[in-house]
Amino acid sequence: MSELIRLDNICRRYKTKGGIVDALDHVSMKIEKGEFAAVIGQSGSGKSTLMNILGCLDLPTSGQYYLDGNAVSGLDEKSLSFLRSRVIGFVFQSFNLIPTLSAKENVELPLIYRRINKAQRSEIAEAALEKVGLLARMSHRPAELSGGQQQRVAIARAIAAAPKLLLADEPTGSLDKKSGEEIMSIMQSMNDDGVTIIIITHDSNIAAMAKRRIKISDGRIIS
Ligand SMILES: Nc1ncnc2c1ncn2[C@@H]1O[C@H](COP(=O)(O)OP(=O)(O)OP(=O)(O)O)[C@@H](O)[C@H]1O
Ligand SMILES: [Mg+2]
Repeated sequence: MSELIRLDNICRRYKTKGGIVDALDHVSMKIEKGEFAAVIGQSGSGKSTLMNILGCLDLPTSGQYYLDGNAVSGLDEKSLSFLRSRVIGFVFQSFNLIPTLSAKENVELPLIYRRINKAQRSEIAEAALEKVGLLARMSHRPAELSGGQQQRVAIARAIAAAPKLLLADEPTGSLDKKSGEEIMSIMQSMNDDGVTIIIITHDSNIAAMAKRRIKISDGRIIS
């Protein structure tokens, strides 16, 4: 296997009126291509801060982040935005679907940004919805779907964009146990297709389904 992610002594310090918070405190780790890792830790331990940095949504205060061989701190906004749209897929606890669009239109969105023609878009979106078992619901709007179904649409949207890396921040956090397990099994099949996956969870049953667990406490990796 080869390395997809390397963090060297990453620190992320927030300065607030109430004082300084070291949300990440000298974090170093490697993730190989093809891994399926769960980041676990208590509320406030720094999981989302870590995810934002991994997703190139935030920059560390100090330290180096290498993604697929690129030193992220040396990249301009155009290259960062390329990484965020072409290399990384995101799934959030709150689904982040566009309420006025159908499931299929939501899945097509990243393809529209890539100027993929309508016929191809339709084909890719339907294939992605089929993967998550929602072809029959493709014309439904998010409000007409259950929480688990909405999350499956969000994952189909990520699948359609064909990322190398999928980052999921509490993807099962607002779902019941059964829907959460379905989401995990869909992510497992993405991983079988070669996508590297990192999920954040505070649910130890969900974490147990990943191949590797990374435990964070007070901004430090403890195991
Ligand atoms: N924008 C911010 N400004 C100041 N402090 C912040 C900011 N974002 C996060 N923090 C602080 O950084 C620490 C880590 O926060 P983070 O959101 O990464 O935790 P988390 O592990 O994701 O928690 P949760 O499980 O509740 O989502 C917390 O102490 C938090 O208060
Ligand atoms: Mg969080």
